[in-house]
This record gives sequence, C-alpha cells and structure tokens, in this order.
Amino acid sequence: MADQLSPGPFTALQLTRYTKTEQCQILGDSDDPFGVADAGLTWLPKKDHFGVRLDGRLVAHAGLLKLPISIAGDITEVVGVGGVAVAPDLRGRGLARLVLATALDHARTMGPRHGILFCRPPLVPLYDRLGWRVLEQDVHVEQHEGPVVMPLRTMWTALRDDANWPTGEVRLLSYPM
Ligand SMILES: CC(C)(COP(=O)(O)OP(=O)(O)OC[C@H]1O[C@@H](n2cnc3c(N)ncnc32)[C@H](O)[C@@H]1OP(=O)(O)O)[C@@H](O)C(=O)NCCC(=O)NCCS
Repeated sequence: MADQLSPGPFTALQLTRYTKTEQCQILGDSDDPFGVADAGLTWLPKKDHFGVRLDGRLVAHAGLLKLPISIAGDITEVVGVGGVAVAPDLRGRGLARLVLATALDHARTMGPRHGILFCRPPLVPLYDRLGWRVLEQDVHVEQHEGPVVMPLRTMWTALRDDANWPTGEVRLLSYPM
C-alpha cells in the first residue's frame, strides 16, 4: 500500500479555485491550521494556486502572490509563497516538495528574481531541505497600524540562477501573504 502513496502517482496542477472550502478539504476546519494565530497578523490571500488531488480530493496546496518589496532602498517585487499545506494523513511523502516545485516553476515565469515565505521556526529545516534560505535580519511587513517586524522566520529562494539576496534593510511594502 505504501507504494500507492509515494509521490510517484501524484501530479501537481494549477487550480482554478482555492477558497476556504478547498483549504478545509486539506487541513480540516481548524481555527488555526497553520499555527500562526499567535502572531496576530493580517495576511493576504494568494492569487495563483497549485494543488495535488487524490481521488478527487484536494490533498496539498501552495499559493503565490507577487508583492512589492524594498531591499536596501531599491523597490522591486518578490513572489510570496504561502498557504503551503498537506493533508495530515499524507504528510512525510513528498507532497509539499511536489506542490512547491510546481508552484516555483510557475513563479520563475512571473518576473521577480526571488521568492519569499514566512514560517514558524520548526519548519525552517524542512524549507532549507527544499532549497530555501533564512534571512537572518528583521523584515518589516505592513499591517493596519503601519510597518511591524515580522515575528515569524523569513526565508527566500532564487527564481533565477544568478539571484543572490542583496544586503540591506528589507521591507515588504504590503501585508504578508
Ligand atoms: C509543512 C507541511 C506542508 C509539510 O508537508 P509534507 O508533505 O509532510 O512535506 P514533504 O514530505 O514534502 O517534506 C519536504 C522535505 O522536507 C524534509 N523534512 C521534513 N521534516 C523535516 C525536518 N524536521 N527537518 C529537515 N527536513 C525535513 C522531508 O524529508 C522532505 O525532504 P526529501 O523530499 O528530501 O525527503 C505539512 O506538515 C503541513 O501541511 N503542515 C500544516 C500547515 C503548515 O504549517 N504549513 C506551513 C506554512 S509555512
């Protein structure tokens, strides 16, 4: 049986629709499925959605949203990655790797040189394994009351071969995703 659940038979696709209903299919109806409610932040919904289906049921998701950012005073754009989720019964089988790889293939066509995500500290080793790097500095993000320091970890990945992360102050010029 385990072979049937290996990533082999799964395919990640761009989704035409991703609402609370689809998120519930993956994560159930929890109040805080991402474990970030303590941070008290307002988040933006993602625009482009990628998912994996098993027998018609959505079992994994990653979302993308292009956002303005200031890096060392230069205003540019990044692709924000968020809403990464895998159904609890299918975790540890490479579905996050699969859905993120498909989302990032698309992100590479969107223009920005970098992808970013925000995550809880325990997830840093997982994303590191998938090629993301921690930004070891404060990152400001917009909230209703103005810019605040992001309390979660910020990680980035190159969307082009030659893209390093520039040195300097980082301010996301929008709510986080
Ligand atoms: C986080 C989450 C998406 C991971 O999904 P998953 O399908 O179990 O992840 P994968 O099986 O694809 O694992 C990805 C890689 O990380 C590795 N990994 C997993 N846990 C790890 C850890 N603690 N340390 C290092 N690497 C780890 C895996 O081995 C795998 O690498 P490999 O393909 O080289 O073996 C899933 O646990 C989830 O939905 N959690 C709840 C929602 C959430 O918190 N989302 C994150 C929002 S930022």
